[in-house]
Order: sequence, then C-alpha cells, then structure tokens
Amino acid sequence: MASTMTSKALFLVSFILTCLWKSSFEQEIFNPLDYEAEGDGVTDDSQALVDTWDSACEHHAPAIFLIPENTTFLSGPASFQGPCRVTPTVQIRGTLKAVDSISAFHDPGWIEFKHLDDLHIDGGGTLDGQGARSWPHACSYCKKLPMSLRLLKVSNTTLSNLTFVDSKGFHISVQQSTSIKVTLLNITAPGNSPNTDGIHISETTDIKISGLHISTGDDCISIGQGATDVHIENVTCGPGHGISIGSLGKYQNESDVSGVHVRNCSLSDTTNGVRIKTWQGSSPSQAFNFTFQDIVMDNVSNPIIIDQEYCPDATCVAPPSKVKISNVTYNRIRGTSNELVAVSLVCSQSVPCENVILQDIDLTMANNVTSNATLSTCSNVNVTAVGTQNPDPCLTKV
Ligand SMILES: *[C@@H]1O[C@H](CO)[C@@H](O)[C@H](O)[C@H]1NC(C)=O
Ligand SMILES: *[C@@H]1O[C@H](CO)[C@@H](O)[C@H](O)[C@H]1NC(C)=O
Ligand SMILES: *[C@@H]1O[C@H](CO)[C@@H](O)[C@H](O)[C@H]1NC(C)=O
Ligand SMILES: *[C@@H]1O[C@H](CO)[C@@H](O)[C@H](O)[C@H]1NC(C)=O
Ligand SMILES: *[C@@H]1O[C@H](CO)[C@@H](O)[C@H](O)[C@H]1NC(C)=O
Ligand SMILES: *[C@@H]1O[C@H](CO)[C@@H](O)[C@H](O)[C@H]1NC(C)=O
Ligand SMILES: *[C@@H]1O[C@H](CO)[C@@H](O)[C@H](O)[C@H]1NC(C)=O
Ligand SMILES: *[C@@H]1O[C@H](CO)[C@@H](O)[C@H](O)[C@H]1NC(C)=O
Ligand SMILES: *[C@@H]1O[C@H](CO)[C@@H](O)[C@H](O)[C@H]1NC(C)=O
Ligand SMILES: *[C@@H]1O[C@H](CO)[C@@H](O)[C@H](O)[C@H]1NC(C)=O
Ligand SMILES: *[C@@H]1O[C@H](CO)[C@@H](O)[C@H](O)[C@H]1NC(C)=O
Ligand SMILES: *[C@@H]1O[C@H](CO)[C@@H](O)[C@H](O)[C@H]1NC(C)=O
Repeated sequence: MASTMTSKALFLVSFILTCLWKSSFEQEIFNPLDYEAEGDGVTDDSQALVDTWDSACEHHAPAIFLIPENTTFLSGPASFQGPCRVTPTVQIRGTLKAVDSISAFHDPGWIEFKHLDDLHIDGGGTLDGQGARSWPHACSYCKKLPMSLRLLKVSNTTLSNLTFVDSKGFHISVQQSTSIKVTLLNITAPGNSPNTDGIHISETTDIKISGLHISTGDDCISIGQGATDVHIENVTCGPGHGISIGSLGKYQNESDVSGVHVRNCSLSDTTNGVRIKTWQGSSPSQAFNFTFQDIVMDNVSNPIIIDQEYCPDATCVAPPSKVKISNVTYNRIRGTSNELVAVSLVCSQSVPCENVILQDIDLTMANNVTSNATLSTCSNVNVTAVGTQNPDPCLTKV
C-alpha cells in the first residue's frame, strides 16, 4: 500500500517535472499554415499572420513565430504588437511578399513590430517589398510609401540573417527604440529606386549595425533626429547615396544627434560617401561626436561631405541652418572620388562647425588618366588636419 502510494507520488512528480521541462525547453511553434494561411504567394495571408502572432504572443512560455522554409506568404500591412506574456522568437525562413497595391497601406510600415522587449528576428528568409510597381508613384506618395520592416518602441532587440529586396519605401526603419543589434543582412533594390533607404534610424539610443551588404536607390543608412550612440561597422554600400547623418532640421524641435561611429565600411559607386546634411532655415539642434574611420571609397561622388545648405526642392527658406555640428573626426579615409571635389565641408554661417578633424585622408581621382588631383572646399569651418592629406585640406573657398 505504502509502496503503491510512493510510486504514484513518484509518477506524479515525474509527470509534473516532465511538463515543466517541456514547457521550459521545447518552444512551441506558431506557424501561419496552422492558422488558415495559404502560403501560396497569391492569397493575401495578412490576417492569418496576425492571428498567428497574437496566439504566440499570448502563449505562457517561450514560443517561435515561424515563417517556414520554402513558403511564400503574400501580405498587406501586418502589425505584430506587444507587450507579450513572453516575447516570441521570430524565425523568418521563408518569404514574406508585400501586396502590390499601394492603396492597401495606410500606416507607415508594411511589417511592423511594436512595443516589444527582448525581440529576436532571424532565420535566413526574405522580405520582398515588391516596390517596382509603386516607385513611379513615389513623388506623389513621397511620405506614404510603406517601409518594409518597421521596429517601433522595441528594446533589447536583434535583427539578423535576413534578405530585404525592393521595398516600396525604406527597407528598415528603427524608431523610438533602445539597445538594438542589426547584423548580417543583405538589402537590395535598384540604384534608381526612389527613397528606398536601407536602414533609417531615429529617436533611438544604442544601436549596433554590422555585417550588412546594401545596394539601393537612396541612403544605405540614414540617421535622423534623436539618434544617439550609433555604431556602424563592416558595412558595404553601393549603389546608393552613402551613409548619411540627416537630413536634420527639417522640423521644429528636433532632438540632438550624437555619438555616431562608422568604422571599417566600404562604399562603391555611391553618390555620397559619408555625409552630414542639414536643411536651410532649420530650427536649432546639435549634432556632435561623430567618427568616420577606416572607410574605403571606390568611385564615389562626394566621399566626405558636410552640407548645411541642403535644399532638395525650391521650397526651402533661405536663412542658414541652425543645426550646430561639432566634434567630427574623419580618420583613415581612402580610395577614389569620381568628382574633383573629394572633401566638401559646407557649414552653417550662423552656427559654424567646430572641432572638425581630418586625419590621414587619401582620396584620388577615379578613372582619370590625366590626374589624380582632387580638391577640397570649406566654408564656416576651421579644419584641423593631421597626417596624410590628399587632397590638401580646403584650398578653395566657396
Ligand atoms: C526546401 O527546398 C529545398 C530545395 O528544394 C529542399 O532541399 C529542402 O529540403 C526544403 N525544405 C523544407 C523544409 O521543405
Ligand atoms: C541563417 O539562416 C539559415 C537558415 O535558417 C541558417 O542555415 C544559417 O546558419 C543562418 N546563418 C547565420 C549566420 O546564423
Ligand atoms: C533590456 O534588458 C536589460 C537587461 O536585461 C533590462 O535591464 C532592461 O529593463 C531591458 N529594457 C527594457 C526597456 O525592457
Ligand atoms: C548575403 O550575401 C552574402 C554574399 O553574397 C552571403 O554570403 C550571405 O549568406 C547572404 N546573407 C543572407 C542573410 O542571405
Ligand atoms: C568586423 O569584421 C571583422 C573581420 O571580419 C571582425 O573581426 C569584427 O568582429 C567585425 N565587427 C563586428 C562588429 O561584427
Ligand atoms: C573590415 O571589414 C572587412 C570585410 O568587410 C574585413 O575583412 C576586415 O577584417 C574588417 N577589419 C576590421 C578591422 O574589422
Ligand atoms: C517647439 O517647442 C516649443 C517650446 O517647447 C513649443 O512652444 C512649440 O509648440 C514646439 N513646436 C512644435 C512644432 O512642436
Ligand atoms: C562627446 O565626446 C566628448 C569627448 O570625447 C565627451 O566628453 C562627451 O561626453 C561626449 N558627449 C556625449 C553626449 O556622448
Ligand atoms: C567635444 O569634445 C570636447 C573634447 O574634445 C568636449 O569637451 C566637448 O564637450 C565636446 N562637445 C560636445 C558637444 O560634446
Ligand atoms: C580629370 O582630371 C582633370 C585634371 O584635374 C580634370 O580637368 C578632369 O575634369 C578630370 N576628369 C574627370 C572625368 O573627372
Ligand atoms: C593615380 O593613382 C593610381 C593609384 O594610386 C596610380 O596607379 C596612377 O598611376 C596615378 N595616376 C597618375 C596620373 O598619377
Ligand atoms: C577660424 O579661426 C579664426 C582664427 O582663430 C577665427 O577668427 C575664425 O572665426 C574661425 N572660423 C570659424 C568658422 O570657426
């Protein structure tokens, strides 16, 4: 009798332990194919994707939100929101394909993750924005074309091992977030596709980006207002518009941008290399503590450029920019420029740049058999030059 009791108790204990073990180690998989998705790349699976996420998000234990291999889910806008009981891991192994029609999109994002901590997205799969049909409308829709992936108010988050192609608007946007790591992504769109920035960052603190290959029609990486503590390393860019801090100062009351460090990157055939741009007539803010180090340029226009007279259309007002730029170091920047002016530092008349250092710069002319001579031009800045200087710093005045 006693021994039966003991064995029953033992059984019960081991049963409970097994359950606990299972719930803590075997992550439940949430697959849209189990939530009435077709996964045929033709049927709009948006609702099934959101339903799958919602179930994973409500699950009491760690779960995997899986986009399975060899499967394509066509989707309109899909917002995956938290907070969750436990944030699911997101594995995109297959393909998410955006619906063609722009009229399906009302929010800024196509695939959006929002209000989540400890979010991890990877899997080797693809986000195909199917932008080609929408690009001809980019001008009339300029701000409305949806970003392929929008991370909004996320923290302690990693995004890794994915391919992005042909976004309608930006490929990735990280906003109002903290402690983000972005690694091992390939981002590809045609060099003439409008506004298809690779990654845009704003109002975000502590973001590390490394191991990305970006070819696109706009900035490979753009860093907007309120971005602080940004580290970019091992990124290749081209074609595209380069790595850009800005445009800053377009709106009233923008937050400062500080602590942007770009290291060991290479740019090829881009329309800019490393750029800081601020709008004319902007309201006051600060942009400071930037380093650009170990950058290789190959056939780049404007390899090093500060443009505080940015005014892409005729509607800007004339007064000088009030964005104060300071503490900017360019160190070991080499390669080829495809324009004579390889270093252009055009600062604001009302708030001149301060503490700009050029160290070991070697930029020769690309594709020019007659001369390797490049030029630099400066206004409203006193440059500190250290080490090798090719071109000679600021020989011409604007
Ligand atoms: C996906 O397709 C590849 C190539 O056809 C195949 O080798 C692989 O086993 C498939 N994976 C799954 C999970 O079906
Ligand atoms: C990327 O994802 C694929 C498919 O899941 C996987 O085989 C590969 O190991 C991953 N690569 C890295 C660097 O994690
Ligand atoms: C991010 O993780 C750190 C360390 O685990 C934690 O202290 C912090 O609260 C997390 N951030 C947010 C916003 O949850
Ligand atoms: C990105 O492209 C590189 C080089 O072609 C390749 O080795 C890598 O696996 C690709 N990464 C992904 C996530 O597909
Ligand atoms: C950049 O690449 C080098 C060489 O492959 C590697 O040692 C380094 O860790 C990488 N940096 C980051 C932040 O991944
Ligand atoms: C810089 O990046 C290249 C590849 O992009 C890598 O081979 C090299 O080791 C990296 N160097 C450092 C110092 O990280
Ligand atoms: C900018 O900030 C000032 C002072 O805080 C405030 O009065 C004004 O309304 C703000 N402007 C905008 C456009 O937010
Ligand atoms: C900017 O850099 C200076 C000098 O390295 C440092 O003292 C200061 O704390 C930095 N500011 C910020 C906001 O990181
Ligand atoms: C710029 O750097 C100097 C030290 O080199 C530091 O004293 C100053 O506070 C920095 N400026 C800003 C705006 O952080
Ligand atoms: C080549 O260099 C010469 C001399 O500096 C310059 O006049 C010419 O415009 C350059 N050609 C190109 C294609 O940039
Ligand atoms: C320009 O520089 C390249 C690479 O340093 C060199 O091979 C070439 O001979 C130079 N051309 C002239 C005209 O100096
Ligand atoms: C450059 O230095 C000179 C001499 O110290 C000074 O008069 C001038 O105001 C400085 N210009 C700028 C833009 O800082």
